[in-house]
Parts: sequence; structure tokens; C-alpha cells
Amino acid sequence: MKIIIKPDLDREDVWIEAFGAAAPELECVVWDAAVDPASIDYAFVWNQGDGALRRFTNLKCIFSLGAGVDHLLRDPELPAGVPIVRMVEPELTRGMSEYVALHVLRFHREGPVLDEQQRARIWNELLTPTAPGRRVGFLGFGVLAKACARVLSGFDFDLACWSRNPKAVAGIESFHGPEGLVAFLARTEILVCLLPLTPQTTGILDQALFAGLPRGAWLINAGRGGHQVEADILAALESGQLAGAALDVFQSEPLPADHPFWPHPKITISPHIASVTQPRSAAREIVANIRRLQAGEAPHNIVDTAAGY
Ligand code: GLV
Repeated sequence: MKIIIKPDLDREDVWIEAFGAAAPELECVVWDAAVDPASIDYAFVWNQGDGALRRFTNLKCIFSLGAGVDHLLRDPELPAGVPIVRMVEPELTRGMSEYVALHVLRFHREGPVLDEQQRARIWNELLTPTAPGRRVGFLGFGVLAKACARVLSGFDFDLACWSRNPKAVAGIESFHGPEGLVAFLARTEILVCLLPLTPQTTGILDQALFAGLPRGAWLINAGRGGHQVEADILAALESGQLAGAALDVFQSEPLPADHPFWPHPKITISPHIASVTQPRSAAREIVANIRRLQAGEAPHNIVDTAAGY
């Protein structure tokens, strides 16, 4: 039983060690190894490039290293009929809750304004509400957003979510579909985007969407750069429609050195590390899914290729 791996950040050795600990019987093959492609049973990939999986003619399942699967679904030569599994693992989920809690709390307590005041040596006692008086909204409400909402509900933030299809979660006001978006935006002071990138969500963070938020709202995007119209973010910050943005993802990554986001005082940048898949816990999830497949069962967290996530 062989799995070919193409992880990110040149971390092949870490992944080999993690798969070895989770399933000693699983043979881990690195991407550039001289191997008979027909002998590969499983592929574990990140940014593998279009057409790169075509040579594996006996694949039983493709595992995405990330929660997002846009790097797979955009491939016109993706092997047909092979199930795709997105990454759901407890430490990736935990990391995202940390990132979102960090920036929600920071914006909620006017962190960027306090930073500015400090730089200017201004002692101005800003008064902010406590969490029940702050309305946070999740655009996209999958596994990651739900975990973030659980953490924020510990502070009693006023939470809402918007998704394609209705989702009922106790204590969270839920909106869906294009008709629900207007009301969702109107009540959202801190907007957290954790959508999958699909043709329907590409460019969703644009001028029209920002105009639907209350003036002075904050944006947190840990989805994909493809969700954001970057010129519209700059214009919304300039006009005051947005008070600040925490961005982990960009149209072009790495963010080019001359990009206007870098020096912007109202933008906080992180280099697509809001949350990172952790090899030990992720390998355990993948191996559990391989065992399900071997037992003739469907793997967990299978992608609906028509929906795109
Ligand atoms: C990272 O971007 C992921 O999809 O997990």
C-alpha cells in the first residue's frame, strides 16, 4: 500500500515520520521518487500543479493537505471518479480558532486605533462595548468557522453566520442564500471570511459587499485570496467604510514586495499561516480514512466536486 506525498514547505521528512507513526505498513513515496505510477494507491498533495496526478492510474483516493481543495478542483486533468478528501484535523481547526479569536478580540477592543494612539503619544480613553454588544459574522460556516464560533461564544459575542444552504446552530443567528446576505451584512461589525473558493465565491469581498456592512466594520479573511478584490479593500479602507483588515491570503502569494497592502497602517498581514495542518494529527486522520476505504466504507470529509468544497 503506497501513498505519494507532495507536502508544502519542503517538509517531506516530517510527513514521512508522521505517516510512519500512524501506519507503519503504509509506504510513503516522495513526489520526485522513481516509482511505477501505477503502483500508487493514494496521493497526499498541496499545490501539485495541473495535470500532475494524471499519471497515477490506480489511485483510490486523493487527500488534500489543506482544508481548501481549489488547488485540486481547478485541474482540468484531475483523475475522474477518484474521491477527494479535504483536510479536517483537530490541530488545523484549533489553529484557525486561535487566529480568528486573536483578530476578533483585537478589532473588538480597537487594537489598531490604540496602536496609532500609542505611536502619537495620545492618551485617549476609548470606550468599547463588551462582547455581547459586538456583532461578529461568519461568511461560510463549515468545520473551521463552527470551531471559531464555539471559541468566541465563550466570550458571549453576538454571532451570526451566512452560508449557501441553511445551517442551524444553537445560539447563532443563521442566514443563507443571496437573499440572506443583505440582512447578514447589515448586522455584522466584524466579518470573518472562511468560505471555500468556488466560482460563486470568487471576488465576493468586493465594494458592493463592503457597502452592505455598517460603516467602520472590520474584515478578517482567512479563506482565499481569490475571494478578495484587493483594490476594493484599499478603497473601502480609504473611505472609512472598513476600519481595518486582517488578511492571511492574497490574490498573489507570496504577496509581491511592492504591493500597497504591505505598508498600509490599517492592514495586518500574515503569510497564509492563519492555520497550518499539523503532520502528526493529520496523518492519523488520513490513515483512519484509508482504513475506511479498505473496509469498503466511504471516507469522511469527502468533497462534493459539483459544489466545489
Ligand atoms: C490552507 O489554506 C488550507 O486550505 O488549509
